[in-house]
Amino acid sequence: MNRTVNTNELEAKKQLDIINELKERFDDEFRRTGIRKTYHIVTFGCQMNSRDSEKISGILKQIGYVETDTEDADFLLYNTCTVRENANNRVYGRLGHAGTIKKGRPGMLIALCGCMMQEPTAVEKIKRQFPFVDIIFGTHNIFKLAELIKIRLENEEKSNRQEEHMVIDIWKGTDLIVENLPNDRKYPFKAGVNIIYGCNNFCSYCIVPYVRGRERSRNMDDILDEITCLANDGVKEVMLLGQNVNSYGKDLDPPKSFAKLLLEVEKIDGIERIRFMTSHPKDLSQELIDVMGASKKLCNHLHLPLQSGSTRLLKIMNRKYTKEYYLDLVSRIRRAVPDIALTTDIIVGFPGETEEDFLETIDVVKKVGFDNAFTFLYSKRTGTPAAAMPDQVEESVARERFDRLLEVVQESALRRSKRYENTVQRVLVEEVNEQNNNLLTGRLGSNMLVHFEGDSSLVGSIIPVYLKESKGFYYIGTRV
Ligand code: SAH
Ligand code: SF4
Ligand code: F3S
Repeated sequence: MNRTVNTNELEAKKQLDIINELKERFDDEFRRTGIRKTYHIVTFGCQMNSRDSEKISGILKQIGYVETDTEDADFLLYNTCTVRENANNRVYGRLGHAGTIKKGRPGMLIALCGCMMQEPTAVEKIKRQFPFVDIIFGTHNIFKLAELIKIRLENEEKSNRQEEHMVIDIWKGTDLIVENLPNDRKYPFKAGVNIIYGCNNFCSYCIVPYVRGRERSRNMDDILDEITCLANDGVKEVMLLGQNVNSYGKDLDPPKSFAKLLLEVEKIDGIERIRFMTSHPKDLSQELIDVMGASKKLCNHLHLPLQSGSTRLLKIMNRKYTKEYYLDLVSRIRRAVPDIALTTDIIVGFPGETEEDFLETIDVVKKVGFDNAFTFLYSKRTGTPAAAMPDQVEESVARERFDRLLEVVQESALRRSKRYENTVQRVLVEEVNEQNNNLLTGRLGSNMLVHFEGDSSLVGSIIPVYLKESKGFYYIGTRV
């Protein structure tokens, strides 16, 4: 069903008022004590979470917190991921440590948000085992952070019993997109921009649709305004973000397409590089391939998750494409953009995966020749259809396949990276090496990193670099 985006300006105004109210209170405290309260955010998971953390950071800074690089902070937040079981375990491990810090730091607030908090069993466990946590919220109501802090502080004024202080506010879903709240971007020269939230695909192994809700596209004008402002602020590279960017605009009234959005972003002066993440192969249209072929600003990199090379398994995974379709799609993309770097995600050990299925995956990896692949051991996520499937693959078998796959991936990555050896490529300089201040790190359009000597004043500029040697996942280069 098509809809008009609910960008609720009243909600934004309400939150800005609360932010200002807290700011006055924090400023008063600062005048009395001479000390600013500190915050620290630990982000797990994907780019969606990183972008959310920037928004959270924006709200905290506006209230008057200053960022610190240790967890020993007045406000400590874990922005969690739950895509695989080990992501959850890492959070529980860190929380134990946070509790110890809090014992020696009166007034410290510990907050949890992100995908794992959308799972009621995880929240129940936290309430039981980590009662010192102060605030828990989910993926749908990040914009409410200031309000939740306010409620938490009021709870403490009302009662001195710790168990009555905790604030939990988790929404099952929403159609609300609150625009124009504070924002704190990690880099001044590159930025992630959400274009669509949620996912409708329900791949049978994946928990994301349950914790991020249904697809909601942002208004095209809001996206273009945001990118224009970014460009005016000096941003050169934007990464358009969504679980499946190819679905962008299908839910809007009137409908829009991702390819059309790209054409509009391309027109924005100052933006020199455009990336996007992630593309579901089933929705990657010929219209998009044509735009990729014609574009002057799109980077020559596409992340195209394969998951499995076995058509039989792809069907059970609910991926809605076959091995042949994927291979054909890759050749159509390569025809339009011959120099494209392709990366992918692959799951090993999905329920019922046989040696034959696995060999089909190896076959696709060899045929495509990926520039890199993120390989994952299948992890059972309660509530997803795959968790209830028979024939869960034994861990030792999955691990053995995983190691074999990794070898093929590494071979492919090294071979692909050799093609740029002894060439000059344009590089966006991103960072100064922490240990050696004369060493810079930059990124190619293909997304590969380059380390080379240079002055820190180059950070944020796009410059040509000679790539002397490939080390597989990065290059050693020199300035030209
Ligand atoms: N929306 C993106 C990916 C989101 S999750 C997409 O569709 O590509 C990132 C990756 O995690 C997925 O591509 C998949 O390879 C992996 N993943 C998701 N669920 C998993 C599970 N239950 N076990 C192992 N890996 C999983
Ligand atoms: Fe998960 Fe599939 Fe949606 Fe990606 S497209 S987030 S793998 S359900
Ligand atoms: Fe993890 Fe949520 Fe991203 S589950 S991968 S942080 S959408």
